Formats: sequence, structure tokens, C-alpha cells
Amino acid sequence: MSGLIAPHGGALINRVVADADRASVVRSAESLPKLTLNTREASDLEMIGIGGFSPLTGFLGKADYASVVDRMHLDGGVPWTIPVTLSVDKGEADAVEKAGGAALYSEAGALLGVLSDPEAYSYDKKHEAEKVFLTTEDAHPGVKSLYGQKDLLIGGSVQVVDTAEREVFEKEELPPAKSRAAFEAAGWKTAVAFQTRNPIHRAHEYIIKTALEIVDGLFLHPLVGWTQPGDIPADVRMRCYHILMEHYFPQDRVILGTLPAAMRYAGPREAVFHAIMRQNYGCTHFIVGRDHAGVGTYYGTYDAQLIFDEFAADAFEITPLRFEHSFYCLRTNGMATAKTSPSTGPEERVFLSGTKVRDMLQAGEMLPPEFTRKEVAEALIEWAQTTT
Ligand code: ADX
Repeated sequence: MSGLIAPHGGALINRVVADADRASVVRSAESLPKLTLNTREASDLEMIGIGGFSPLTGFLGKADYASVVDRMHLDGGVPWTIPVTLSVDKGEADAVEKAGGAALYSEAGALLGVLSDPEAYSYDKKHEAEKVFLTTEDAHPGVKSLYGQKDLLIGGSVQVVDTAEREVFEKEELPPAKSRAAFEAAGWKTAVAFQTRNPIHRAHEYIIKTALEIVDGLFLHPLVGWTQPGDIPADVRMRCYHILMEHYFPQDRVILGTLPAAMRYAGPREAVFHAIMRQNYGCTHFIVGRDHAGVGTYYGTYDAQLIFDEFAADAFEITPLRFEHSFYCLRTNGMATAKTSPSTGPEERVFLSGTKVRDMLQAGEMLPPEFTRKEVAEALIEWAQTTT
């Protein structure tokens, strides 16, 4: 391959059926029992197909599942922190095992792909919740989804023929093979990925730009798959990213692509998962800031950084870049963290909680320029005003 970083596990997986084979795979699906995938499962299928989850070639079988949940590695020893699973009921499991495969459908009834070499197994949802989410409370959105799954899991390799209905941002549709080609075309040897499910506020901008000082380019890589209700919709966020890129970033040093993965809100384990995906997209560095992929108060502020220390030094080729909680420092008039600011208390640091931001937007109040760029604030107010 190119001089770019190797994909996780060594090779970029491609399970999307080539045009020439499509008709025969679609035909083979006709005689197989049907499984309907929920939004998360359909998104996982797409990620497996395009190689975002390399080295996975399908949904986890029993040995890999147990190893991922209990040891954060696939059974063969490759680091992996989040179970990528497909749940079924007993009747479905029996039918699929008997037929030796399944046709995978979206909730809207589109054929998405085919599962082969099925292996059904039972699992303990509470144990998975405890290990992966570090809580068994169903108030946690990831745990809630897990508890809502069917009672068995089924593993098996997949072939993908289509993507489930989802919002597509045509120009930013950059699966790993394309993002890698884009980095090469730009002449980048090093690229830092920024994961986000929020508009980019000044704290985000600060850590991104600090990272951008030491690499060739930035892969702005917002997650556009499932997020919990209440998070800002992907199309609004995309508008904000474009605004920011236009006014506040050197255009030739940023590539914007979308990540069609679903959020799990698994904090530390998801930070590692996010880093692995970005290595597959060709990035050499990955930003992990304050409470990465967290929700509520389930995780410590820097737990998502500390988890990387639990792995062997050579576990990942991608390098996590750890950033402290950043804020606008009123004493020095600039963005900073506790590492760079002489300020000592909250009265000298501009920081707004997500709830406060939502309240202000809904009231049509301008967010302070120390918190968000004016143009981004205007776009968010416009959206908030039309949705209330
Ligand atoms: S996340 O679920 O994707 O992590 P979000 O979009 O808010 O949520 O965060 C994107 C990245 O920015 C994460 O790495 C997060 O840790 C980091 N981050 C968010 N806010 C801050 C902040 N004030 N200071 C430092 N890092 C932050």
C-alpha cells in the first residue's frame, strides 16, 4: 500500500460487494431467512463494509465477543474495545443457523447484505453493560439500547450490498479508501482526526489548532450516525463546520469527512474505538480531550485518555493526543487550559455547559464570542428558533 499508516490489524477490509457480483449476492439472499437490523446494527454493517472497523469482517462471534467484553482484545489478540454485535431471538437464530446464513434488511425494508457462517450464542447484557459502559443503569443511553436488544447474538462474516437509509452529505462522503486517497493527494504523511458530535466551539477549535501545529493536516471527522435525542442534528452541525472552515481555518490544511458510525456514549472504551476507526481512515493522530464520548457524569474527566495506558505500548499505530479541559481565559484574553493559564478559578474562565448553551439558543440569546465564533452562534440560533 501507500506510505500512509497501516490500517488496524494490518489490512483495510472491504466487504462491499463489487458491482459485477451484486446480482448474484442479491439472488442468494432471496432464499435466506430475513433479519431486520436496527439503526445501530445497520450502521455497524456499513462500517464493516467500508473497512472503518478493520480488521472485522462481520459481526462478532462468541469467542471474540467474550474476549472484547472481558479483555478489550479480539480473541486473536488485536485490541478492540466495543462489541460489534447483531441480536436475534431464538426462532431467528435457529432459522439462520439451519439455513447457514441470513439476508440482512434495514428497518425500512431494503436489502443491506448477507451474513454467512452464522454462530448464535447467548450473552449477559448486565455483564456487558458493567464492562463496556461501566454502569448497569438504563438511564445511560448506550445501556438502554443494550437492554433493548434481543436475547441472543449472532456472529458471522458479511457482504454488503447497500447502505440503510440515512442522511448523506455527498461531498463529505469519504470512506477509508477515499480519505486515504485524499490525504495522499494532499501530500499529507501525518493527519490528526477530530471526532465530534457537537458544533465546534472555541474550546474544540483551540485543541484542534494546537494539534494542527504538529501534523500535516486535519481530518475533521464528525460522527453523523445515531446520536441520542437532544444532540444537535448532523445537518445543522455540518453547516457550522463549513462556516468555521471558511472563516477560521487554512482551507488547504483541512479535509471534512463524515463518520457514519453510531454513538455508544461508552466514554473511555469508545475513545479507543474512535481512535481505531480513524487509523483505518488513514490518520496518524487522534484528539482525545475532556470526557471524550461521555454522557452525564458516568466517566471521569480524563478516563478516556487514561484507558490508552492499559494497552501495550505497541497496541496502536495511531497516537492519541491528550488535551486538558480548555476555556477562554479572561485574565490573559485567549484560549488556554490549566496547563497554560495563570487563572485560578471559574470567574476567570469562560465555560458554558451544554444545557446552558441550549437554553440560551432557545431564548435567541447570542452565545459569547469567547465561547463560540459569531457566525457559528448565528447559525445555531437560526436553527434553534425554527425548531422551538
Ligand atoms: S464527543 O462525544 O464526540 O467526545 P464532543 O463533540 O463534545 O463530544 O467532543 C469532541 C472532542 O473534543 C472530544 O475529544 C472531547 O474530549 C473534546 N472536548 C470537548 N470539549 C472540550 C473542552 N472544553 N476542552 C477540551 N476538550 C474538549
